[in-house]
Amino acid sequence: MQRIVEQPVMARVLERRDEAADLRTLWLERDMAFQPGQFVMVWIPELDEKPYTISALRPGRIALTVRRRGVFSSRLSDLRPGESVGLRGPYGKGYAIKPRGVLVAGGCGLAVLAPLKDALPDAPLIFGARTRGELLFLDRFPDMLLCTDDGSAGQRGFPTDLLRPRLERGEVGVVYTCGPEVMMKAVFDLCERHGVECQAALERYMKCGFGLCAQCACGDQRVCLDGPVFDSAALRRMEEFGHWARLKSGRRVTLNEYGNWRSCRP
Ligand SMILES: Cc1cc2nc3c(=O)[nH]c(=O)nc-3n(C[C@H](O)[C@H](O)[C@H](O)COP(=O)(O)OP(=O)(O)OC[C@H]3O[C@@H](n4cnc5c(N)ncnc54)[C@H](O)[C@@H]3O)c2cc1C
Ligand code: FES
Repeated sequence: MQRIVEQPVMARVLERRDEAADLRTLWLERDMAFQPGQFVMVWIPELDEKPYTISALRPGRIALTVRRRGVFSSRLSDLRPGESVGLRGPYGKGYAIKPRGVLVAGGCGLAVLAPLKDALPDAPLIFGARTRGELLFLDRFPDMLLCTDDGSAGQRGFPTDLLRPRLERGEVGVVYTCGPEVMMKAVFDLCERHGVECQAALERYMKCGFGLCAQCACGDQRVCLDGPVFDSAALRRMEEFGHWARLKSGRRVTLNEYGNWRSCRP
């Protein structure tokens, strides 16, 4: 059974690596069994605590891939080897592995799918970004099927353009996706048309991270506890999926207004 750490335990930064202009991977000293798609709550004392996905695992260490946005993520990205943060978790439900899976990532959403690709090295991985400069993990996954909105790397177009022919040929048993929610909604709709299961990792504003405060509610689901990965049956019931999210205040806004760290927008 998985061990969940309920109180923050400090973990030392061992190493950091720049992945793209505003994206950095921090390796932290910690042994942690987790399912790809699960997340940890990261605590910077006297500042705040926020959710981050585990983007890689090696013996005795886990990685977080952080996009610099506001105060918290900038402080986290700037931590140097030897400095520490508090970690609790892992929390939530990750991806459920099934036969003939295809992974579809958009922008920084690849950080969430990366440990799943490590576990399924033969599964095709489709990765889309707006432009060449936003591509990441090119060395880690040299067999990725790339596309960019502007055609500067891989095929010009969207991840759905690369997924569609595979679905039409009946090659796909399940699609695992993570990226901007509008992309995941398009992937889900395409899977629905072909009767193929889709598992999508959602992002909503989180406070407690383990089902207590309801801040992260999406329809009748708590994203931190019932997700963040949801299957087609759950996604079908969520009217907010692809349309709405709630700010820290609880106010419901469009996804555009909410923003999304996975879109890699400057
Ligand atoms: C399950 C989950 C996994 C995540 N994994 C990663 C990851 O691997 N790498 C990464 O860079 N970011 C990840 N995030 C986003 C991360 O938690 C922070 O929101 C983000 O780093 C911006 O924080 P900030 O305070 O610097 O920016 P701010 O400027 O304060 O916020 C920018 C935006 O981030 C979102 N946000 C801020 N605080 C939270 C919060 N407590 N919970 C959810 N969203 C919030 C809101 O959309 C907000 O508008 C994840 C979020 C969730 C819910
Ligand atoms: S963050 Fe508190 S219930 Fe999900």
